Amino acid sequence: MTEVQLLQVIGLTVVGVGASLLLFVKARFIRVVAFVSMVLGAFSLVALGVPQMASLPPAVEKFDVASIKDKKDLAAIGQKIFFGKGQCALCHTIGSSEGRCPDLKGVGAKLTRQFLYESLTQPQAYVYMDYQHVGPPKFFPAKMPYINKKPIGLNKNEIYAVIAFLQSMSGEEITVDPSEIEAPYDVVLVIGDKAGGQKVFRALCAKCHTVGVAEKGKTDLLPVLGRQTDPGLRRLVLSEPKLGSKDHQGFDRKLALKDFDDLMAYLMDAKATAKPL
Ligand code: HEC
Ligand code: HEC
Repeated sequence: MTEVQLLQVIGLTVVGVGASLLLFVKARFIRVVAFVSMVLGAFSLVALGVPQMASLPPAVEKFDVASIKDKKDLAAIGQKIFFGKGQCALCHTIGSSEGRCPDLKGVGAKLTRQFLYESLTQPQAYVYMDYQHVGPPKFFPAKMPYINKKPIGLNKNEIYAVIAFLQSMSGEEITVDPSEIEAPYDVVLVIGDKAGGQKVFRALCAKCHTVGVAEKGKTDLLPVLGRQTDPGLRRLVLSEPKLGSKDHQGFDRKLALKDFDDLMAYLMDAKATAKPL
């Protein structure tokens, strides 16, 4: 029983007792007390009937890099940021011109990705370089804030996600690739030896995986490397990729600690030297 329900039961009891006293007791003082308690009980019942509003702090979107599998995931996160942390919806509308600031409908089609990035991070720089302005310049009662600085302070991943959202809601192809999203920076001491790691990779992984090469029937690990930290990657290697599969079976035994460190050094090196997509 919730607190409110408990109080309601107490209120009902008070009203019930008051009513029965009024019915069965003749003494005037007790009747007055009974009447007053009925009124008070009824009053508190009404008050408790009003729906309660919980005031919780706004939810903070968690940018879980490892959970981003494709461009749609990215745009979905961007949408949350647009209406939440990014505060864009305070000023901008999408598809109705009643806002205080430019309506962003179709902006992902109007502006290139580079322009979008610039309008978010250097809002004063481009203003009327915008190549498709129609009509006389418009003046807005608000100023586009620097999105990458305080107080909004979105980081690069979050800005990319917002751009993906702006593109997808404009019906454009999303040109931000999940591999561009950087795993959170963590200090990784590269203790392994990458040449040794390459041998380990050839022996244990090359049957099913490549690094940076598309090959039929094999999974390229490069996109995964881009969004995983060292510990995350180790976890992926030591767990089965699909429920019930045996593809990664026994790596905890087959991979000596030194070999595992070497393998990580090889993969991290591949990630660092990979050509930008
Ligand atoms: C305080 C109000 C405010 C907030 C918050 C804000 N903007 Fe703006 N934004 C503006 C104004 C005003 C302009 C017009 C700038 C100009 O043309 O002078 C603008 C321009 C833009 C443009 C360029 C539009 C075009 O047609 O050229 C984009 C894109 C944009 N904002 C996206 C965003 C995004 C994404 C966010 C949230 C991360 C955001 N804005 C948050 C006020 C705001
Ligand atoms: C018998 C085949 C096989 C071998 C051997 C194998 N893997 Fe995998 N691995 C898979 C499959 C299948 C997946 C799931 C791929 C997918 O989701 O498309 C996978 C997934 C992964 C993933 C996660 C990919 C993702 O998208 O999250 C990583 C990381 C990985 N393997 C690393 C390794 C490493 C490192 C080795 C060598 C030590 C290795 N694997 C050996 C079959 C194998």
